[in-house]
Amino acid sequence: MTNNQIVLFDFGSQTTHLISRRLKDLGIQVKIVDPGIKVKEIKDLKPSGIILSGGPASVYDKKAPTADPELLNLNIPVLGICYGWQLIAKLMGGKVVSGQKEYGPANLQINQSNLLLKEIDSFSRVWLSHGDTVIKLPQGFKLLAKTKDVKTAAVANFEKKIYGLQFHPEVEHTQFGKTILKNFVKEICGLKTRRRIIKVEKLIQEIKKTVGKQKVICAVSGGVDSTVTAVLIAKAIGKNVYPVYIDSGLMRQGTKEELISIFQPLLQRKPVLINAQKLFLSRLKGITDPEEKRKIIGNLYIKLFNQEAKKIKNISFLAQGTIYSDVIESQGSKKAAKIKSHHNVGGLPKKMHLKLLEPLRYYYKDEVRLIAKKLGLPRSMVNKQPFPGPGQAIRILGEITAERLKKQHQADQIVLEELKKAGWLEKVFQSFPVLTNTKSTAVKGDSRFYGEVVALRVYDSADIMTTNWTRLPYELLQKICSRIVNEVPEVSRVVYDITTKPPATMEWE
Ligand code: XMP
Repeated sequence: MTNNQIVLFDFGSQTTHLISRRLKDLGIQVKIVDPGIKVKEIKDLKPSGIILSGGPASVYDKKAPTADPELLNLNIPVLGICYGWQLIAKLMGGKVVSGQKEYGPANLQINQSNLLLKEIDSFSRVWLSHGDTVIKLPQGFKLLAKTKDVKTAAVANFEKKIYGLQFHPEVEHTQFGKTILKNFVKEICGLKTRRRIIKVEKLIQEIKKTVGKQKVICAVSGGVDSTVTAVLIAKAIGKNVYPVYIDSGLMRQGTKEELISIFQPLLQRKPVLINAQKLFLSRLKGITDPEEKRKIIGNLYIKLFNQEAKKIKNISFLAQGTIYSDVIESQGSKKAAKIKSHHNVGGLPKKMHLKLLEPLRYYYKDEVRLIAKKLGLPRSMVNKQPFPGPGQAIRILGEITAERLKKQHQADQIVLEELKKAGWLEKVFQSFPVLTNTKSTAVKGDSRFYGEVVALRVYDSADIMTTNWTRLPYELLQKICSRIVNEVPEVSRVVYDITTKPPATMEWE
């Protein structure tokens, strides 16, 4: 007897949690485990299937994570994804070689009909992101599908129910990725799938239970995550929540006013407002390193919150709008490579003596929007673009001065205005200018002008882990470009960033 759950071995891919997310969307229970787990423990879990995730290592690295080969003899269906498949190949006597790193889309050509690729169109798009390739299959394996450059894109040992994919079915860029994962759990592991339902009332009750009569100070940034967090808590404990907005000057213009309009009717009072624009600018003076900027801003936020918390008697919790992708990208997974330190993750300094309350820690952005909608928040908030905690600071490359910050705000407003006018604002995931700290030549008023290059970044994404640049109409791009060059001082030209994630991150810093 199995217990209807999938055990997911985490080899550290940035997208491991997306696998879990996709399965949860299908109503499947998932347990993420460290690859070092003993086979006996796996047997005790009685999983219906096992998935081995991708990871940043090469199977031949000295410290490459591995798994007990016995795992492949348990008569439990196994799916290896990227590194997971390469590891299976190595453990079962196949040959893996370190090749040229490959990132990006490819077309999947199906050679043989099979359960894993059931109802998948041949030549559909898949997403590859790997350094190694399996060049010799272990005994008993058959080729199911290939791409132009990868012969072993999908493979199976039907007898042992072991499957391998060189591409990533969990990312949005893989056209039929969700179907492939569904096929694995439904057709191969024999699990029943159903739609996942988010119960907002349950979330509110959980907060009530955790907090009781205690008081909560809640950091709000004006974004959908922290606003939903504060509203959920307000619904749970009423006036015992104190939303605090630190005006660092780095958030989008109009943020403070919008927050007041949301919280005033809910709590019959304004959020606590802290004016810290000058303080942030002075602390960021001379700082150019992106990680250092994040740390300074993060520490300052915590310090100011701490000061505020002390002013309110009997505060026990600090609430934050941390969501799942923040946790993952700040090394939520043991074997993952660190990409960026998101300042709202990682817990609080011990001396704060406050417990952390993060009701959205296990939700993805699109789920948070659904919760916002269910809570009745205004449409502009439900669909609001995510805005990073360090704000404009990580969109101004190099040093942040008052003048450059003003320039960034001006360019940002132009991008927002023009996208809104053209009906594109709610269609895109994020859109912003970046002051690149690079100069180029232009001609303004008949004379040579040597000024800053502004990059425009606009993209679509459903899950934050993957993105594709938005194909905006040329006329709109032209309008944004000419307005920025003409209206923002010291700008010589505008370039459009067409890099997908991966490999590039969304933000430039
Ligand atoms: P990246 O650039 O890592 O961005 O692909 C993924 C998402 O996270 C946002 N982001 C941040 N959010 N603190 C935050 O709260 C940060 O330091 C930070 N860095 C990036 C980014 O805007 C995008 O939505």
